[in-house]
Amino acid sequence: MGDKLRAAILGATGLVGQMFVKLLSEHPLFEISYLAASEKRVGKRYGDEVRWVLDGDVPEQVKELTLDSVDPDKIKNASVDVVFSALPSSVAGNIEIELAKKGLTVVSNASPLRLDPDIPLIIPEINWEHMKLLDVQRRRRGWSGAIVKNSNCTTAILVLSLKPLMDLAGLEEIYVTTMQAVSGAGYSGVPSVAIIDNIIPFIEKEEDKVVNESRKILGRLAGDHVVPADFKIYATTTRVPVIHGHLEVVYTRLRREVDIKDVVEAWSRFKGLPQEVGAWLAPKQPVIVRWEADRPQPRLDRDAELGMAVSVGRFEILENRLLRYVVLGHNLVRGAAGNTILIAELMAREGLL
Ligand SMILES: NC(=O)c1ccc[n+]([C@@H]2O[C@H](COP(=O)([O-])OP(=O)(O)OC[C@H]3O[C@@H](n4cnc5c(N)ncnc54)[C@H](OP(=O)(O)O)[C@@H]3O)[C@@H](O)[C@H]2O)c1
Repeated sequence: MGDKLRAAILGATGLVGQMFVKLLSEHPLFEISYLAASEKRVGKRYGDEVRWVLDGDVPEQVKELTLDSVDPDKIKNASVDVVFSALPSSVAGNIEIELAKKGLTVVSNASPLRLDPDIPLIIPEINWEHMKLLDVQRRRRGWSGAIVKNSNCTTAILVLSLKPLMDLAGLEEIYVTTMQAVSGAGYSGVPSVAIIDNIIPFIEKEEDKVVNESRKILGRLAGDHVVPADFKIYATTTRVPVIHGHLEVVYTRLRREVDIKDVVEAWSRFKGLPQEVGAWLAPKQPVIVRWEADRPQPRLDRDAELGMAVSVGRFEILENRLLRYVVLGHNLVRGAAGNTILIAELMAREGLL
């Protein structure tokens, strides 16, 4: 595919930003050419400023890079091919819009705009065809660039397990209770005195995100908009003292009777565009079935397929089309940076960058 594409990472010192740095530093298609964090770090060396929390050390090739600002004009002048945004939601909105107006393509983890009708909210294995919304976006907003969004991390993990079930038997209703890792809240998100020896049964705005984003991602593209999926969905989200990896207990009533072996086969066989084209970050199997009575577990299973696969277990049809299972995924990889990079790689392959 010729020379590497130049990537900017906004919020590069944060937890999602660090995962971008880690994954992109090994990526065959992208090179990191612009790193940005908050104003106080501008002009300083990435290796000195980042409080690295991931396994291994800061990749050598980025240690010496100088942190820059999130000023859209500066980013524009840096001639990058794609902007990966890991900015807090409170600052992301305006910056990302300015970048799109200036002709840049932004693939973002931040929540603003996710539910706007002309913004693709993408899990590549599930709803790549929603990328057609980019035409609507350009027409309506007059941008020469574009914004594509990643979903909330909990939602990404959940919908990967739901999509094969939806295709198999339809989904009538879903009840999900989550046990979410502390890294899902960002570097300064949850104070240690609040979470050690504890579970916090509330995460601000999270339950609405799970409900609305699941319906959009699993919805059907109809011309210039997505018709949200029509299942009922109820979420309870909690924070637990785990570093990475969200575990979710799901009860779902299917629309027709199926055997548990059909369910297992649907999960095991599930594939999408990333697998068809052999994208670099595509897991061979996006949904891994665990048969052990006590799996999946965050520490043992979050890194499956580099963190790009989710793992399901504890599955059982209890009664009357009601299926119970547990799903686990890496919130910083499939729930954030990994999924975003996968979107950008597929966009590059389709000439959209
Ligand atoms: N963590 C997850 O699992 C996850 C999953 C999906 C989506 N997300 C979303 O991804 C985004 C990043 O999350 P995170 O967990 O990585 O957060 P984080 O650890 O708090 O990192 C935030 C990053 O943004 C930078 N930043 C903060 N304020 C800024 C400002 N005013 N101008 C420029 N840069 C600023 C920070 O730089 P400094 O170091 O200089 O402060 C840091 O690099 C959020 O929108 C979050 O909701 C997170």
